[in-house]
Amino acid sequence: MTEKLRAGIVGGTGMVGQRFIALLENHPWFQVTAIAASANSAGKTYEESVKGRWKLSTPMPESVKHIPVQDASRVEEVASGVDLIFCAVDMKKNEIQALEEAYAKAGVPVISNNSAHRWTPDVPMVVPEINPEHLEVIASQRKRLGTETGFIAVKPNCSIQSYVPMLTALGGFKPTQVVASTYQAISGAGKTFTDWPEMLDNVIPYIGGEEEKSEQEPLRIWGTVEDGKIVKASAPHITTQCIRVPVTDGHLATVFVSFENKPSKEEILESWKNYKGRPQELELPSAPKQFITYFEEDNRPQTNLDRDIENGMGISAGRLREDSLYDFKFVGLSHNTLRGAAGGAVLIAELLKAEGYITKR
Ligand SMILES: NC(=O)c1ccc[n+]([C@@H]2O[C@H](COP(=O)([O-])OP(=O)(O)OC[C@H]3O[C@@H](n4cnc5c(N)ncnc54)[C@H](OP(=O)(O)O)[C@@H]3O)[C@@H](O)[C@H]2O)c1
Repeated sequence: MTEKLRAGIVGGTGMVGQRFIALLENHPWFQVTAIAASANSAGKTYEESVKGRWKLSTPMPESVKHIPVQDASRVEEVASGVDLIFCAVDMKKNEIQALEEAYAKAGVPVISNNSAHRWTPDVPMVVPEINPEHLEVIASQRKRLGTETGFIAVKPNCSIQSYVPMLTALGGFKPTQVVASTYQAISGAGKTFTDWPEMLDNVIPYIGGEEEKSEQEPLRIWGTVEDGKIVKASAPHITTQCIRVPVTDGHLATVFVSFENKPSKEEILESWKNYKGRPQELELPSAPKQFITYFEEDNRPQTNLDRDIENGMGISAGRLREDSLYDFKFVGLSHNTLRGAAGGAVLIAELLKAEGYITKR
């Protein structure tokens, strides 16, 4: 068996960082060899630094307990022990941009969960099933950063995974107008009910910055590569409302859509069932076998029952029917910290390795 690539988790003590730790335990290609966080955590073992704030229901993997947490700002030190890093930190946008560029310039591939670089023109923002061709901008990014091995690739906001896959599968019918409301889990804010008791028996009709991301990021995902940059698509017109609901994990979306060429219900179901991407062709380790699963039952998908479909990497859809104002309406669901965060980033890293962008350093 070939030697595994050494993975660092920058922000490894946080909620998304913990998901990376759990997902990479026994990963066939990557092994966690470094964990970095703020100066407050640095110097302790991982077990000591996360004591009392381990947020997953599965236990902390033995293999990481004794890894010493490093100070993420000591880039050369962290970089010397890894072949790639996953990054999920809670810092100011300009600080994250500088930190991620410093790692890339040190020759390290950076796969980021942060929003800081999502609109940097030569940084690919990727859902591997949808726009793997955007990886080609990495060549011009490397030229700009002056590195042959380092680069930054990012994943989009967690909310869009619950409706963009279904719309992408229907791209041939040319969606023109989309109205999406997202009902988002509290883990999307890095919280559990213990640290956010105000969310019990409550709904909050506001998530800062979320609606702009939910409306604009799909257009970048559907954009084209021109002269080493991503140029965003101009259609469809998307409008959203993003609501926080009392659910641990799983973002649900209700969607209305009109098309230039209106499909039949059967054509839509067929398109969803048959939609496949590079991860399925390449049989990447984290790829769901079935990307979009449609439920015929009127009361599905449900967050609690269906968010873990395909190990949390599949997308569920249901309640497809004609609408009196738009052409169709339906419901979508995705797991926000798996497909929408750490799992989506691991799938990007697998695609990057399979396509030769990440190698042993
Ligand atoms: N939660 C989600 O579902 C989700 C989904 C997609 C994207 N994201 C994004 O992922 C990022 C992390 O989110 P989270 O929910 O995991 O946050 P979190 O639980 O608050 O964790 C934040 C992490 O950042 C580290 N950190 C804070 N200040 C730092 C500094 N100055 N230098 C280095 N590390 C620092 C923390 O280290 P210490 O422990 O040492 O403080 C911790 O490891 C955010 O950008 C968020 O928007 C989250």
